[in-house]
Amino acid sequence: MNQKHMLTTGRAVRLAAAVILPILLAQAQTRIVVNEAAARDTISRHIYGNFSEHLGRCIYGGFYVGEGNTKIPNVRGIRKDVVEALKKIRLPNLRWPGGCFADTYHWKDGIGPKTQRPTMVNTWWGGVTEDNSFGTHEFLDMCEQIGTEPYFTGNIGSGTVQELMQWVQYVNFDGISPMSSLRAANGHEKPWHVKYWALGNEAWGCGGNMTAEHYSDIYRLNATFVASTGPEPLFRIASGASSDDYHWTEVLMTRVPHWMLQGIALHHYSVIDWNKKSSATGFTEQEYFATMKQALRMEELIAKHTAIMDKTDPDRKVALVVDEWGGWYDVEPGTNPAFLYQQNSMRDAMIAGVTLNIFNNHCDRVKMANLAQTVNVLQAVVLTSEEKMVVTPTYHVMEMYTVHHDAVRLPVEVTAAPFTLGGESLPALSVSASKDQRGVVHISLVNIDAEQAHDAALEIHGTTLRSVSGRILTSGRVQDHNTFDAPENVKPAPFTGARVEGSTVKLRIPPVSVVVLSLE
Ligand code: AHR
Repeated sequence: MNQKHMLTTGRAVRLAAAVILPILLAQAQTRIVVNEAAARDTISRHIYGNFSEHLGRCIYGGFYVGEGNTKIPNVRGIRKDVVEALKKIRLPNLRWPGGCFADTYHWKDGIGPKTQRPTMVNTWWGGVTEDNSFGTHEFLDMCEQIGTEPYFTGNIGSGTVQELMQWVQYVNFDGISPMSSLRAANGHEKPWHVKYWALGNEAWGCGGNMTAEHYSDIYRLNATFVASTGPEPLFRIASGASSDDYHWTEVLMTRVPHWMLQGIALHHYSVIDWNKKSSATGFTEQEYFATMKQALRMEELIAKHTAIMDKTDPDRKVALVVDEWGGWYDVEPGTNPAFLYQQNSMRDAMIAGVTLNIFNNHCDRVKMANLAQTVNVLQAVVLTSEEKMVVTPTYHVMEMYTVHHDAVRLPVEVTAAPFTLGGESLPALSVSASKDQRGVVHISLVNIDAEQAHDAALEIHGTTLRSVSGRILTSGRVQDHNTFDAPENVKPAPFTGARVEGSTVKLRIPPVSVVVLSLE
């Protein structure tokens, strides 16, 4: 055997070890069992909500361009392209006006003739002047155009109880009252009936730096008076914990009577290190791994907050509302650091896929959630630049997952080789399943492994399989993303990698992909 042949043989052996063996291993190990007979809880469509704040170019330029001199097509100042995009993902609810901004916002500044609206300084987000041209009427008009339910965040930090009571009366009261008369004078005779109200935001931080004990008293006070203002019951949501602040949840659950608490919020961002984030598109494999580790932490956070809530609410009547989640990176070079404008890559599609699977699988406690944020801020579904608009990989995941809206969850068990890097391991495969009203079973599968495909055997217990079809979102590199010049670089395609074999579906799930199957 000459030296050249030896080298070739050595390379072949290494190639086999690197490529073929992991595939064989994955083939041997990847098993997914969906139990249709155990179908029980409904996946609320409100898990698929978004968040919109007066921050950077989310509202101004993103949603709203004004009715004046603009070439951007709009209806009463609201961008048509953005509305159309959000209709396609059947956006169920939209949180507004913040975020940190909410606890500085005085709603009366944003009603009435625009020329008479006072300005304010947006202290949290760059100290820019807010002209209040987008206020309550504009937001509710936008929600109607999109066909989504509004979710208001009340100002607890710097507002008053009376101010909040009056806001509820302004938007909800049907009879004669000072605020409903003011609403009619401002051109809206009929109330809007806004159901979802958060009482403050991040009360432990930008919402007032309160202790959990102090906030729980403040919550009781505000919850008492907002409830007595409108005719219909409100869904009141308490400002909740940051990630693993379990004490916060414990205090709220024990100090606030549950009849005045319909939901408790939770905020968790997939950020590697608050002092050293990563580029949104120029990240390394290590940074990808670290981001996914933070995203997958959502499973543990929800399980532990749920366990605390279960102690005083075993029937799971109080909802866990994850009203801020998503990836948080460095802003795009050359943009205002306070505007939080970041690109959105296949890494974000992975975050969205696994997070939404976690929410689906915990739908008996997680009844609402809001991706941060909708347009031009953090993990946005839509990016705009003047008259141009592009949808992101995250948008496509939201669209593919619409099949789970209000469907009944099916429990899933997954056995699969992990995603390993530098001696650390993460679950590579994330799966959730549901059955819709027509009896179609949908299974969303996310393979976060950067290199390894999974050849899986999928069993559905309790049904007879006839056909399988599906769609896939994947791309050559995890850094791939859409731009204004290449808006379709990343987009879903039909999935042809699955086939029915007896009572099993055999499929190959490529690395860095989201697959949604329909089984009939
Ligand atoms: O989403 C951006 C900010 O993150 C929100 O305003 C705040 O609630 C959170 O800290």
